[in-house]
Amino acid sequence: MAEFKVAPANAPVAEKLLTWVDNRFPASKLYKEHLSEYYAPKNFNFWYFFGSLAMLVLVIQIVTGIFLVMHYKPDASLAFASVEYIMRDVPGGWIIRYMHSTGASAFFIVVYMHMFRGLMYGSYRKPRELVWIFGCAIFLCLMAEAFMGYLLPWGQMSYWGAQVIVNLFAAIPFVGPDLALLIRGDYVVGDATLNRFFSFHVIAVPLVLLGLVAAHIIALHEVGSNNPDGVEIKAKKGADGRPLDGIPFHPYYTVHDIMGVSVFLMIFTAIIFFAPVFGGYFLEYNNFIPADPLKTPLHIAPVWYFTPYYSMLRAITSQMMYALIACVLGGAVLGVLKVRMPAALKAAVVAAALVVVALMLNIDAKFWGVVVMGGAVIILFFLPWLDHSLVKSIRYRPSWHKYVYGVFVVNFFILGYLGVQPPSAIGERVSQFGTLYYFGFFLLMPWWSRLGEFKPVPDRVTFAAH
Ligand code: HEM
Repeated sequence: MAEFKVAPANAPVAEKLLTWVDNRFPASKLYKEHLSEYYAPKNFNFWYFFGSLAMLVLVIQIVTGIFLVMHYKPDASLAFASVEYIMRDVPGGWIIRYMHSTGASAFFIVVYMHMFRGLMYGSYRKPRELVWIFGCAIFLCLMAEAFMGYLLPWGQMSYWGAQVIVNLFAAIPFVGPDLALLIRGDYVVGDATLNRFFSFHVIAVPLVLLGLVAAHIIALHEVGSNNPDGVEIKAKKGADGRPLDGIPFHPYYTVHDIMGVSVFLMIFTAIIFFAPVFGGYFLEYNNFIPADPLKTPLHIAPVWYFTPYYSMLRAITSQMMYALIACVLGGAVLGVLKVRMPAALKAAVVAAALVVVALMLNIDAKFWGVVVMGGAVIILFFLPWLDHSLVKSIRYRPSWHKYVYGVFVVNFFILGYLGVQPPSAIGERVSQFGTLYYFGFFLLMPWWSRLGEFKPVPDRVTFAAH
């Protein structure tokens, strides 16, 4: 037990109270470790706003969610009407609902920007692998949370979107149909599905999400923040033991983040007041029609933040399987020829590739579509070990690396766009190339990230006072 502190007899009441608390709970210690004496690099830029914004949106979602639950009815025969009731009759209900629905899209915008920052500055690399891995787990939870939340208004898109996605699980060999049944709790999406999705959306996933966010921040504060130069500020400390290029998080970055929050709230409120449906992107038009199990909408598309992955799912046709088989065989041959490994391992690689090809030839393309869609998210977990670049930040990588990243982003947008569109022959072909680029970017990273002429990394961060 830490030594008991005693406040001077003439100290202000507040100080006495804090001393009393500190003797029982590490309030001042936590404040110092995470705010006033957490030294963050002084060269943070625009991209460093998104971590604190993600926390803000998380709070907005939880608070608005609590108020929505007060009037929402998780019952297939009442759910749609209860949402309309919130929108029309509950005082302030419309703004709470629009904050929550716009908040879902805002969450993904903010988190995608946050992840892209990590990608640019190599923030996932040693010693921040766990920060990244917790982040990827958060991303997975966020996707589950958004997917289950979308079923709750029980509109046409809620219903049919869930139907399509849950049916995907049925494509898994052997366990698929039972798994789909387990998820739905019925043979079709119905009241049981709505109830379990409600339970997961309202309590189970948010609890996990909060735990993961806490782990994410604790891991980050253990190793310290990266920065746009990818220079470790802890490597250069002054006589007082503080990093020379570090500034206390509070007050410097609290003030900085308040500015980010202000700008964010201006945009966020403008959308809520003037374009909450956002042209059908944030709330799909079909979702203003009550769910009708007897009427399938002509075109079923998920909300925009899932569409890059949805495109990848649709790209995996039986024709595309041949391209994937060629990739598996090509990868195995390249691995055996180019990577130094014992002969037994080489034989194992060839055997594994042949087994995978045999499975690919025998299991329906729909299943592989699910594998590709899931794989597109799972592959992110491995990024720390895929990137073999000599430097962390994009600033000091060979200039052409920027184009590789640029095409990656454009490709992600194109996949996203195609996922909203009804299927077409040209769209299918483009998304097939897009899927190959997406996976090529990651799987070939151990090779391409080492190529080219790297620029010298400075000893200290680059910073010009504003
Ligand atoms: C609810 C979602 C999330 C919240 C609240 C959150 C919060 C934060 C905060 C507050 C920071 C420190 C400030 C900053 O660097 O911007 C941070 C850093 C970081 N986050 Fe997240 N995060 C979330 C999701 C993610 C996801 C999905 C990933 C990646 C898959 C991720 C990866 C990282 C990394 C690598 C850092 C360190 C960045 C650096 O030091 O350069 N985070 N996060």
